[in-house]
Amino acid sequence: MFYGHLHPLVLHFPIALMLLVAVLEVLPTLTRQQFGSGYGKAKRVVLILGAASAVVAATMGLTLASGGAYEGETVSLHKSAGISVAVLAVSSVVLAYLTQRGAAFRGLYGTALAGTVIAIFVAGHWGGNLTHGSRFLSGAAPEPLATWMGEDRLAVLKARYNNDSYAADVEPILDEHCLQCHGPDKQQGDLRLDLKDAALAGGESGRPAIEPGNPLASDVIRRLFLPRDHEEAMPPDDRPRPSDEQIVVLADWIAEGALFAGELSGAAGFLADYLGSDIEPADETAVATLRDAGAVVASLSKDNNLLSVDVSLKPLDKALLLDLLEPLSKHIAWLDLGGNSIDDDVLDMVANLQNLTRLSLENTAVDDKMIRPVSEVESLVTLNVTNTRVTADSFASLSQLPFLESVYAWNTETTPAALDEVRTALAPVKIIGGATLSLPPPERGVNEVMEEPIDAAIDE
Ligand code: HEC
Repeated sequence: MFYGHLHPLVLHFPIALMLLVAVLEVLPTLTRQQFGSGYGKAKRVVLILGAASAVVAATMGLTLASGGAYEGETVSLHKSAGISVAVLAVSSVVLAYLTQRGAAFRGLYGTALAGTVIAIFVAGHWGGNLTHGSRFLSGAAPEPLATWMGEDRLAVLKARYNNDSYAADVEPILDEHCLQCHGPDKQQGDLRLDLKDAALAGGESGRPAIEPGNPLASDVIRRLFLPRDHEEAMPPDDRPRPSDEQIVVLADWIAEGALFAGELSGAAGFLADYLGSDIEPADETAVATLRDAGAVVASLSKDNNLLSVDVSLKPLDKALLLDLLEPLSKHIAWLDLGGNSIDDDVLDMVANLQNLTRLSLENTAVDDKMIRPVSEVESLVTLNVTNTRVTADSFASLSQLPFLESVYAWNTETTPAALDEVRTALAPVKIIGGATLSLPPPERGVNEVMEEPIDAAIDE
């Protein structure tokens, strides 16, 4: 094991030596000088030492990893890259010797050496993430370097925002006191408390065991306060009760919405606060012009300058729409394009709305191809594609979106079976809808007929 622990020290040798070999290789070309035969020999010595140290560092790394202290995807990526460094470095040594025999090997040698250098950077990147956390370097880097290095502000935000209090605080209490009778193995009283739907539904009594937002109405809490000898008191018999502090944790958790593992709360509000915080007020003339054109423009919060823009009541000419929305691209957080004439240009514009959290494309000609740019709108929380030609395939690509909570998908070109499949794949994103209305989605580019299409269909 001690051998393995030397890995972080030793790995600096192959890095320095192999990079030095690469520098020595390009130096004569760069400086246009001849360095004589001693230079070639020295180069080869450095190369051999570099390759040898790469092999040692890699075996040390493997020993360290087999100790089990490190696990996960980053480790396997680092491992593959580290092994590649060793293999490529040794290949470079072999090819360097073959080059002396025949110039034909020169190209191969160059490729192997370049590969070694690249592998060193890749291994170093993943290794740095392992020891310092993934934001070690990129988090300290100035924009736009940070973005280039994959420091994604929304991803960072997401990590901060992700609800992990369930796993940290609530689950251990349930696990200690309740799940042996209301868990995966046993469901006394027909109640299971480790799954949200089951817990909300309750058991035999038909009362909800948990009512999100209302601890006092939740049977779970009520039973914890019953006198010990009451027949409904939980846990039953003389089993130890959760402590008062633990009961408070459970009650707080229910009061805050009883979010189970991986669930998000109010992403829209959270994002609006965060995204809007550094945005200057919108240009008043731009807002006034948009209003004059028939759009409903409202401020989302008195705490920020984000806007809700609804052009569904009076669909606009496409060119006008693009012109009017462009100056507000930072401010638009909610956008309702319902019934408008949608094409690729409009959706490209949408993809550039960096603070968009809610988008409605209801009653438009949007289809799987056109909707693609939407999967780049990372801040998106709610998407409405009701009455469009979108199919289940599109929803799958939306699963990349870190904050997405719901997709409204009534009357799309999705079969119920495909929708069910996507629902499972996308959980916890909710896909709402499925029933097919008798109304055909609008044709591409049709606008006039789109005003109040639902009412028209109902009247018929
Ligand atoms: C030793 C097993 C056991 C443990 C531990 C236990 N329960 Fe129960 N629980 C039961 C049994 C048996 C019933 C059914 C009888 C009843 O309704 O009182 C029940 C019923 C319930 C019900 C009513 C379900 C319904 O709708 O009928 C709730 C709520 C409940 N338990 C909550 C809890 C909570 C919360 C804990 C942990 C703090 C807990 N239980 C721990 C055995 C257990």
